[in-house]
Amino acid sequence: MTARTSPPKISFREVTRSFPVKGGTFTAVDRVSLDVGEREFVTIVGPSGCGKSTLLNLAAGLAEPTSGEVVVDGRRVTGPGPDRGMIFQQYALFPWLSVRRNVEFGLRVAGVGAAERRRRTDEAIDLVGLGDFADALPKTLSGGMKQRCAIARAYAVDPDVLLMDEPFGALDSLTRVQLQDQLLDTWRQQTRTVVFVTHDVEEAVYLAGRVVVMAARPGRVHQVIDIPLPYPRTEETRLSAEFAALRNQVWGAVHHQEAPAEPPAR
Ligand SMILES: Nc1ncnc2c1ncn2[C@@H]1O[C@H](COP(=O)(O)OP(=O)(O)OP(=O)(O)O)[C@@H](O)[C@H]1O
Ligand SMILES: [Mg+2]
Repeated sequence: MTARTSPPKISFREVTRSFPVKGGTFTAVDRVSLDVGEREFVTIVGPSGCGKSTLLNLAAGLAEPTSGEVVVDGRRVTGPGPDRGMIFQQYALFPWLSVRRNVEFGLRVAGVGAAERRRRTDEAIDLVGLGDFADALPKTLSGGMKQRCAIARAYAVDPDVLLMDEPFGALDSLTRVQLQDQLLDTWRQQTRTVVFVTHDVEEAVYLAGRVVVMAARPGRVHQVIDIPLPYPRTEETRLSAEFAALRNQVWGAVHHQEAPAEPPAR
């Protein structure tokens, strides 16, 4: 484990989240403990249903742990706050609001004044390359553009912690790579901590300083893998032998846990 001098930005401490179901309870996340450092970029991978979204919801304060606690900046999370921005698995834009209005929404809620709101909204829209579409309605945008709008909305609030739930899942590979690089650029320029959930092992390795591999039933941390590749990461990174070795290691950790109960027939 990497030695850290500062206290963690986010601590999941023995976090369990159960749901009542017919005939008992279902444990979605079981005693997860994980520290994320200030300015760290952590990705979470694991099979569908292993509790990735549940963990992000807990950190965002949209749900409460059944036991254990999530601590951000030394304070227990009890609800949402402007220090944590969430980008949802299904991007949720208000269809009747323009790109600009969507992006500025969180700032209005936070009571930011008009001039400052305008400045931060424009900056976030430019950052994701939607400058020419600021007045467009979501229905006139492509999937990738809608997603960029959702990202701009989170950027505009300028949260310390960015919680991203498969934000690029629905995008074509070209747009995806562009947005990955853009995300890394902004992360490196700003003092932000990112927790990023993905199904895609390559994406998990490309972005992260550490990859958290989860296992399902019940959802738990299976393995944490350090990614000691230098930033900035580029096309060259993707093609390197080190990258391939790390991708294989993460792939093995994700898929090995899904081995059949019985040994395969020879
Ligand atoms: N409100 C709920 N009530 C009951 N069960 C729930 C609820 N929310 C989540 N679960 C269950 O908890 C488990 C974890 O769900 P979660 O959405 O966190 O998984 P995930 O890892 O994000 O999956 P995916 O990769 O498919 O998005 C799943 O089995 C899911 O059915
Ligand atoms: Mg999910």
